[in-house]
Amino acid sequence: MTGTAVKEPAKKKPFVLDLYATAVGKKYVMAVTGLIGIGFVITHMIGNLKMYLGVIDEGNGERAYDIDIYGEFLRELAVPLLPRTYVLWGLRIVLIAAVALHIHAAAGLTKMNHEARSVKYQSARDYQVANFASRSMRWTGSIVSIFIVWHLADLTWGFVHPDHVVGAAYYNISESLSRIPVAILYIVGNVALGIHLFHGVWSLFQSLGWNNPKFNAWRRNIAIGTAALIVAGNVSFPVAVMAGVVEYDPAAVTHPVGEEAGE
Ligand code: HEM
Repeated sequence: MTGTAVKEPAKKKPFVLDLYATAVGKKYVMAVTGLIGIGFVITHMIGNLKMYLGVIDEGNGERAYDIDIYGEFLRELAVPLLPRTYVLWGLRIVLIAAVALHIHAAAGLTKMNHEARSVKYQSARDYQVANFASRSMRWTGSIVSIFIVWHLADLTWGFVHPDHVVGAAYYNISESLSRIPVAILYIVGNVALGIHLFHGVWSLFQSLGWNNPKFNAWRRNIAIGTAALIVAGNVSFPVAVMAGVVEYDPAAVTHPVGEEAGE
């Protein structure tokens, strides 16, 4: 067949984009990006538990809060193979992309659901259950999104934190969460996250096709367990600060920060 001109077929969209255009594709993206988010939230909570370890002796006569040493470790990941904060920025980019895709797919699914309203559920009960779940996901998802922006402005950038000091996590947490309205905000944000995670973990098994009936009791337990673990750990932080269990002490460290150090 050499020399025969073959007519080019019409340009087709890449397979992944075709898949993403469908509800199944969007649900898959929500499940995978949701798993990335859960991975972050669990790791972040475990890292924050370090605030309970207080001050440690670094062995060279230096004393610092363990959580601040952990923060420095994250910024120093893969140094000297890569410059400082490169790995951290790589992880941040993955997380930002995951959150953006998660929200984009959620908005797309909502739009598709509205357009498909002519297809009614079999019974009013089914309708109510499905409607409540998806409505509560939109509400809790929005509250969590607002919480994250506020949380970054508080503890990472410091716009809404009058005494913020870059890199001093223990000090920043202790100063911020000791304000009652802020502590309440952290509790509300994390309870919303817990509700979101409960339904999210439950649905992601469905979206990824892991819905064997034998597995359903486990599915429920995993969803409850994940949500409860995150809520218990994260709500304990504002409570611990309010109770004075976590309280910055400039005399306990060799390089104090904040007003006491005249910064
Ligand atoms: C009471 C609970 C929480 C505490 C005490 C806490 C504490 C912190 C602190 C101290 C930082 C700043 C680290 C630094 O730059 O020095 C931080 C960053 C961050 N937190 Fe939280 N956090 C909590 C809950 C959450 C939740 C529930 C989410 C997400 C759903 C979240 C998402 C983030 C993100 C995305 C960053 C930025 C990470 C980075 O810059 O690499 N946090 N958190």
